[in-house]
Amino acid sequence: MKKFITVAALLMLSACSGQQNQAATAPVNVQSLAGNQPVPVTQDAAAMASYPKKGHAISRNFAEQPPLIPHKADYSISLDRNSCMSCHAWNKAERMKATPVAKSHVIDAQGTLNGKNYFCTQCHVPQADNKGALVGNSFKM
Ligand code: HEC
Ligand code: HEC
Repeated sequence: MKKFITVAALLMLSACSGQQNQAATAPVNVQSLAGNQPVPVTQDAAAMASYPKKGHAISRNFAEQPPLIPHKADYSISLDRNSCMSCHAWNKAERMKATPVAKSHVIDAQGTLNGKNYFCTQCHVPQADNKGALVGNSFKM
């Protein structure tokens, strides 16, 4: 056993030193198929959208509007797991200080989600401060 560990440790050491050797070699020059074309116009990455830190409900604009999501919305929704429900399910909402999913979304008194309401982001969209205007607008009255 001891022998095995020593051999394994030696192997790991040599693997590491191999990496160090590689890092010391000259930088790789990648040439594009179009030759060395200069890039005349560069653009900064767009500002990241910022979501409200503490989710407070955003007032609705019309009856039956799916309320806007006042927080980031990249929680995964997959076939076997809906992460939104880890806060908005009826039995978790109070503890997570979130509004339980609407009565219209469930099929029984225990709050079992209706299949047609499973993909939350099909109807609910996040509200974010997007910093820059996304689309120009020249509307005049
Ligand atoms: C970590 C917990 C958590 C997760 C996960 C979560 N939310 Fe929320 N959500 C909240 C909290 C807290 C609020 C603010 C209180 C409120 O209005 O419910 C909120 C608010 C909302 C609201 C506004 C409710 C209203 O009455 O205006 C919607 C809609 C919503 N979330 C949808 C979603 C969706 C869709 C997902 C998944 C993509 C999701 N949430 C995931 C905690 C969470
Ligand atoms: C088919 C569209 C649709 C889907 C899918 C959907 N919702 Fe909704 N949701 C609505 C509408 C419309 C309302 C407002 C009317 C109502 O209360 O039924 C609403 C209301 C809500 C509310 C506010 C409830 C209240 O009492 O104020 C929450 C929270 C919510 N949805 C969360 C979710 C979550 C989480 C999911 C995914 C598990 C989801 N919704 C899926 C359309 C949808």
